[in-house]
Amino acid sequence: MGIVDLIKKKAKGQALTEDEIARFVEGIVDGTVSEAQIGAMLMAIKWKELDKKETRCLTRCMVNSGDVLTWPDKWRGSMVDKHSTGGVGDKISLVLVPILACCDVKVPMVSGRGLDHTGGTLDKLEAIPGVSVEFDIDSIKSMVEDIGCCIVGQTESLVPADKQLYAIRDVTDTVDNNSLIASSVVSKKASENVDFLILDVKCGKAAVIQDEAAAEVLGKLMVDISNDIGMRTMALLTRMDHPIGLAIGNSLEVVESLRCLRWNCPVCSDSKKCLHCRGCHDILALVYELGGRLLCSAGKTQTLVESRCLMEEKIRNGEAMNCFKKLIVAQGAKQEVAECLCDPKTDFWAGLPKALHSKGLKVEQDGYVHDIDAFKCGKASWNLGAGRNKQVCDIKMGVGLELQVCLGDRIRKGDVWVTVYYDSDTVPVEVEAMLNQALVVKDQELTHTNGSRVVKV
Ligand code: URA
Repeated sequence: MGIVDLIKKKAKGQALTEDEIARFVEGIVDGTVSEAQIGAMLMAIKWKELDKKETRCLTRCMVNSGDVLTWPDKWRGSMVDKHSTGGVGDKISLVLVPILACCDVKVPMVSGRGLDHTGGTLDKLEAIPGVSVEFDIDSIKSMVEDIGCCIVGQTESLVPADKQLYAIRDVTDTVDNNSLIASSVVSKKASENVDFLILDVKCGKAAVIQDEAAAEVLGKLMVDISNDIGMRTMALLTRMDHPIGLAIGNSLEVVESLRCLRWNCPVCSDSKKCLHCRGCHDILALVYELGGRLLCSAGKTQTLVESRCLMEEKIRNGEAMNCFKKLIVAQGAKQEVAECLCDPKTDFWAGLPKALHSKGLKVEQDGYVHDIDAFKCGKASWNLGAGRNKQVCDIKMGVGLELQVCLGDRIRKGDVWVTVYYDSDTVPVEVEAMLNQALVVKDQELTHTNGSRVVKV
């Protein structure tokens, strides 16, 4: 059967055989299936679905489309990683990876770029001048040997099928499908050949799969396929209704990640009142939840409390920041740039691309912050140029948003609640309108701020 027949078959809702899925994936990699045909097949899959057998087969074919990393026996049992299904302000990997690498585990992270309104770890990392995310297998192995971690992308030799599919899904409205998400996530992680994997499966307004029950189904599918491949995998279901932390946008999120890796905030005398500290607490809570479970799984700690203490210690003693510095130098940043960027006494902006302009949007009434809609914030940032609308597209590294309030805060008319960073002459009208709808202020206090985003393990 030719590729057009395969597309027709899937569009009619019929199951593809293993050979047919293998033929499709091979065609993606050797160029015999065109981008238009890939897009058509993705749309057919989105609407007619793959069953579990087809999804498992697609995942395996995607893993086999490239090489699988191999590791020395002495590291077996200590290779770990985490992956998120995508969030707004989700800079967890930038913070978690260097911390874990200081806790006697190895983290060979293969990550992704922005998808839809959600940001991507690779795009954020590339905001740092000189940093690259494309490496050959030998360089990846050396980084893991020398530093204990890396954060790289799919390449011609590492899950090349996902590299193609991921980019085409981003611009063809085919992101939100369980089988496509599962095969994309699990194939990347299987190519890393890690022992333990934790999945952060998002649900809520700004998640790719919004409904909690549907996200749970996705989590179970990924855990099953992943365990089947030989990675011991668990999933946390976490809420993605409000942005994680304060910053949304590539450079802005690098800065906030570095704030998380600095133990002492230079501006605050009370971390419960300091805006930046409260943003960091939100991020670190998730870092400890996810990292804590990985450390227990790898036998480095016995309890989540012990894991948290160990991770806090690695931030407090500067090891985690130092590891981040080594990571970005290994991935191409100049030593001087990295030294300046990671200096805890600075504001961390050294050398990072900045937007041309900024503007504070003001609150229109007194009251308490009841909602900051992460989807609208994510879309606004995407509209400013932080994400892509076609496959090959330069994104703007400096643009984005910085929240100036947290959920539950008391605010007054005229206070700035968000700073918009933009490169155009003015803040685009649709961005301002979207942001005005993102903030919900009410007279009464917000009583139910449940501190944790985790809804299910
Ligand atoms: N992360 C991935 O790697 N792939 C997806 O499809 C979604 C999130």
